[in-house]
Parts: sequence; structure tokens; C-alpha cells
Amino acid sequence: MPRTTLYRTAILALFALNLPAQTASKAPAAGAAKQAPATMRPQANLLQLMRGILFPASNVIFAAQNDNPADLKPAPGKDPALATDPLVSTYGGWQAVENASLALAEAANLLMISGRKCANGLPVPMNNPDWPKFVQSLRDAGMKAYAAAQSKNQDKILDAADTMTTACANCHDKWREKPTLADRCK
Ligand code: HEC
Repeated sequence: MPRTTLYRTAILALFALNLPAQTASKAPAAGAAKQAPATMRPQANLLQLMRGILFPASNVIFAAQNDNPADLKPAPGKDPALATDPLVSTYGGWQAVENASLALAEAANLLMISGRKCANGLPVPMNNPDWPKFVQSLRDAGMKAYAAAQSKNQDKILDAADTMTTACANCHDKWREKPTLADRCK
């Protein structure tokens, strides 16, 4: 890619995030809010991140409560390499539950990148001391589900799914379950 194109892409990314241009500066003014390194800049708002990663990944774990992943096979005539349901994909069965669990544990890291906005434009309430606690619960729940998937034991998945539901709900009770979108993240 030519330099000018790269530069233009960077500018566009800044506009898309609605950030003032100065946030690209390497040396923020004294007292400026802590910025994520350029390599860790958020691209989605919180709602999009939830819908794009946490929602689909947690559904894989929740599905393993009802159907034993070991019994799930690709539908006849369907190419598992093209599957949109991870459980019946090339990396399906218990391995899909392992991968979804790790995706959720890794999503905890994404929830700690500074500069992300909620869908209503408010900053993600990262400075509230409860935020990192709820994020840590999500990370722990992800790693618990990972261990349960590795053990291929459905009773353990039931327990881990319950822990996961609580981890999601504790944060949602505080910042999502509001009468209107505008009231979220306050
Ligand atoms: C640390 C806090 C936190 C955790 C943990 C968390 N969420 Fe969220 N979630 C939120 C907030 C806040 C919103 C509202 C975002 C917005 O409106 O921009 C949200 C929104 C969502 C949405 C979109 C709802 C809508 O209105 O469309 C989904 C889906 C979702 N979360 C799923 C999950 C799942 C599943 C988990 C657990 C695996 C989870 N979240 C864990 C804070 C959290």
C-alpha cells in the first residue's frame, strides 16, 4: 500500500471513531486521559462488540448445556469448513466449546481497551471500579468454561454456563438494563 493511502486510512479510522485528531499524537498533553496504544484502538462500540463476539461465543457454551457437543455432526452434504455454527464446523464438538470459552476470556481484554464508546456515545464506564471487577468475572468464567470443555463433561459445562450467565448479568444489571438506550453506561 502506498504511504499516502496508509495515511488516509489512518485519518478515516479516526473520523469513524469520532475522536479528535489530537488523540493520534504520540505524546498526549500532561493531564490528558490515558490513551490506548495505536495498536490497541477500539473499532466497535460496546454494543457492537457484545453482539459481534460475546453473544455468539456465549451461545456456543449455552448450547452445550442441552446437546452433548460430542454428538454434534455437520449436516449431511454440508461442508464443515464453511459452517457458520462453530459446533458443527471443522473445529466443532468440544473443541468449539473450548474456543468459544477462550474467545470470551480474550474479549475481557477488549473490554479494557480505553477509548471505546457505548452505542449512545457515552464512554464505556471503565473508570468505575466495578467495571474491571465485572470484566475479571467474565475472564474467570471464560477460563472455567474452557476447563469444563477440556474435561468433556456436561455437568461441568452446566456449572460453567451458570457462572457465565452471572458474569454477563452482573454487569448488565448495572449498566445495560435501563429504560432507554440513553440511560445505559451511566
Ligand atoms: C463489564 C460489563 C459487561 C459484561 C461482562 C458483559 N456485558 Fe454485555 N453489555 C454491557 C453493556 C454496558 C451493554 C450496553 C452497550 C451499549 O448499549 O452500547 C451490553 C450490551 C450487550 C448486548 C447488546 C444488547 C442490545 O441492546 O442489543 C448483548 C447481546 C450482550 N451485551 C451480551 C453479553 C453477554 C452474552 C455477556 C457475557 C458472556 C456480556 N454481554 C457481558 C456490559 C457488559
